[in-house]
Amino acid sequence: MMELYCERSQLKDGHTVLDVGCGWGSLSLYIAQKYSACKVTGICNSVTQKAHIEEQCRELQLRNLEIIVADISIFEMEGSYDRILSIEMFEHMKNYGDLLKKISRWMKDVNDDDWITRYFFSGGTMPSVNLLLYFQDDVSVVDHWLVSGKHYAQTSGDWLKRMDENKSSIKPIMESTYGKDSAVKWTVYWRTFFLSVAELFGYNNGEEWMVAHFLFKKK
Ligand SMILES: C[S@@+](CC[C@H](N)C(=O)[O-])C[C@H]1O[C@@H](n2cnc3c(N)ncnc32)[C@H](O)[C@@H]1O
Repeated sequence: MMELYCERSQLKDGHTVLDVGCGWGSLSLYIAQKYSACKVTGICNSVTQKAHIEEQCRELQLRNLEIIVADISIFEMEGSYDRILSIEMFEHMKNYGDLLKKISRWMKDVNDDDWITRYFFSGGTMPSVNLLLYFQDDVSVVDHWLVSGKHYAQTSGDWLKRMDENKSSIKPIMESTYGKDSAVKWTVYWRTFFLSVAELFGYNNGEEWMVAHFLFKKK
């Protein structure tokens, strides 16, 4: 999947890359490792995520990846990147217009600049996709791809299976994260989340709720 993001965003070795909402760093680490001449910057809103990624960088001896901890909705910086990628972060956002304006300011001012995002949406009425397409004041969509919901359904089903198979090692993590009194409740919440995603995205053979990739160009 990581290579697919790189292909679809036409990323090349030597590019400066911004990964907005980098999470635990799966994409940033992949790019920094595979494209060693790229200079990668990841933005996340968690010091734990930053610490984890930096630990990985030390183990892998990577010197081309930097992590910024910030709330993207208020974060400002002077920056200019060849490629900006954002995987599964827009679900957490509310003001698409402002965020796209900000991101467009960070895109280099040349014609082939673009970025890609993955976004979940309902294939029936496609409300989320319509929303993203609506905000094209600062960027315009140049390409998009649909991915069957069956893949995410299977992933979520596997997460559920692994959680159930590892109940005893997960219990202390739930207790330290949510407190002893709430650990069972949160275990149920997580199981419900995995079950709902598996059912929703698997519905109608994966053609009702899907995943979309967009390629945008700076206007
Ligand atoms: C669903 S995860 C996706 C992580 C990663 N892009 C991936 O594909 O594995 C969403 C991530 O977006 C980031 N995020 C969410 N809200 C954010 C905010 N307000 N500011 C910065 N990052 C945020 C966090 O790093 C969070 O882990």
